[in-house]
Amino acid sequence: MTSTYDVLLGRLQSAFDAVFEGTDPVLRPSDRGDYQANGIMALAKSQGVAPRDMAQRVLAHLDLAGIAEVEVAGPGFLNLTLTPGFLDDRLRALLGDERLGVDSMPERTAVIDYSAPNVAKEMHVGHLRSTVIGDALARIYRFRGYRVVARSHVGDWGTPFGMLIEHLVDLGEATAMAALSIGDLDGFYRAARVKFESDETFRERSRQRVVALQGGDPETRRLWQILVDESVAYFAEVYAALDVTLTTADVVGESYYNDMLDDVVTDLAAAGLLVESGGALCVFPEGFTNRDGEPLPLIVKKRDEGFGYAATDLAAIRDRVDHLHADELLYVVGAPQSQHFEMVFAVARAARWLPASVRCEHVAFGNVLGPDRKMFKTRSGETVKLIDLLDEATQRAAAALAQRSHDLSSEERHHLATQIARAAIKYADLSNDRQRDYVFDLDRMIAFEGDTGPYLQYAHARLRSIFRRSNAPWDPGAATFVLGADAERDLARALIAFPEAVDAAMATLHPHRLSGYLFDLAQRLTTFYEACPVLSAAEPSRTERLALCELTARTLRLGLSLLGIEAPEQM
Ligand code: ARG
Repeated sequence: MTSTYDVLLGRLQSAFDAVFEGTDPVLRPSDRGDYQANGIMALAKSQGVAPRDMAQRVLAHLDLAGIAEVEVAGPGFLNLTLTPGFLDDRLRALLGDERLGVDSMPERTAVIDYSAPNVAKEMHVGHLRSTVIGDALARIYRFRGYRVVARSHVGDWGTPFGMLIEHLVDLGEATAMAALSIGDLDGFYRAARVKFESDETFRERSRQRVVALQGGDPETRRLWQILVDESVAYFAEVYAALDVTLTTADVVGESYYNDMLDDVVTDLAAAGLLVESGGALCVFPEGFTNRDGEPLPLIVKKRDEGFGYAATDLAAIRDRVDHLHADELLYVVGAPQSQHFEMVFAVARAARWLPASVRCEHVAFGNVLGPDRKMFKTRSGETVKLIDLLDEATQRAAAALAQRSHDLSSEERHHLATQIARAAIKYADLSNDRQRDYVFDLDRMIAFEGDTGPYLQYAHARLRSIFRRSNAPWDPGAATFVLGADAERDLARALIAFPEAVDAAMATLHPHRLSGYLFDLAQRLTTFYEACPVLSAAEPSRTERLALCELTARTLRLGLSLLGIEAPEQM
């Protein structure tokens, strides 16, 4: 079904076009009426007409079916109030629509680069953000009908692998594998680093190992593969614990692009873009300068260390455009890498590897901070392990549940606690503007009150409990939405606006546009509960209110699922 928003926007567009073809209306939900139409000022300007006169002209062409009232306000805004009959139609259509008004779009492909931890290194909270935001975007895109190809661009190549492999040899394969499989990746990395810094022979062995690795020596490749496999298996455990849709097949690390790197250099040279500078091969993309105004290089190949991060990302763009047929390329990576991506995109465009029709975006995000507002670290200054955060959150949720004297078995309680813990951690991340830093505060995140994941889960579970408690049957098909109470109408207005929230999250790549919508919906629900009894209401009110409850529960459940959050039946 077409969303209410799209129906009204389509009508406005026709009215605009009838006056003059060339400008687009803008429509937003508003408390002055139900929707506010903007864009008339621009139209008025283009025609040299006073805005309020233009508003009248647009109005003369506007299909007003289902619109109870139009107010011309300010410099040419139209405030539209819908008729109860129109709302009733829309709500009944939603009851019969599993997608709750959200369209599925024609096949397009999005390649979403996210998570991307590094082999033999712990996943840190930055990777948590990438994983959670990337997975929410992947779910939203899939729901909108996209073919989504996830790519976890893990760091599995480069000079540190010389020392990591030598450390593995020293430990013995079995011991090394045991250490890695319990997730002591940082311990392994640190021990290698210490030897590398203090032991000249180890350093020399490591250097030779890098040469052997790059030269394709089979035994070296085998040892390297052990490091990769053990790390990837550990990451998969973290993804399963987080309930993230990434699979091992989506892990396509830097090394995958090795064979394509020579072509990157050859083709950049052929395009006349490659410059030698201090022994390194660079591209100076237009528009990038350092503080002194000198052109900034994107280093493709270093003097002695070979190809770098930028070369790999350039090869990845070609692979994703040419072989995966991407219409959109998204990179969910921390803000400090902004310049890297801007330069890589600029070079790829200059080399004509990235057609203008392909949308390419760095979905940047800020830091996770500790209670002291500094970078989030353990007390001893180490990287906080994701899995430990999740364990702690699960324990707290289980303790909170135990106090609520539930008739749950301990197994059920543990499962529910896991669902709540994931919701707490994911929602805290997704409900913040991703570009801002946020403070990791488990107490606040896991609370059942406030703008939290568990609060939304609880709102959903409370609705489900109404249906469990109801002993008289009800027929959704018999519902008529009269919306006599303000609280009913306010809830209904939010329900018809779900597609806009999904659209906004997708268009801006900001999942908090969706989480903010869900929080607002849950608050309207609370107001509705206080004002309107449901099960004890007389018919036909009872059926109408049950239908509002049903729609709200389904909207919460679907909305949360697009954020990667489960909605338990009972809490
Ligand atoms: N492994 C990198 C890191 O930990 C992130 C990779 C991001 N993706 C990319 N295509 N460069 O910082």
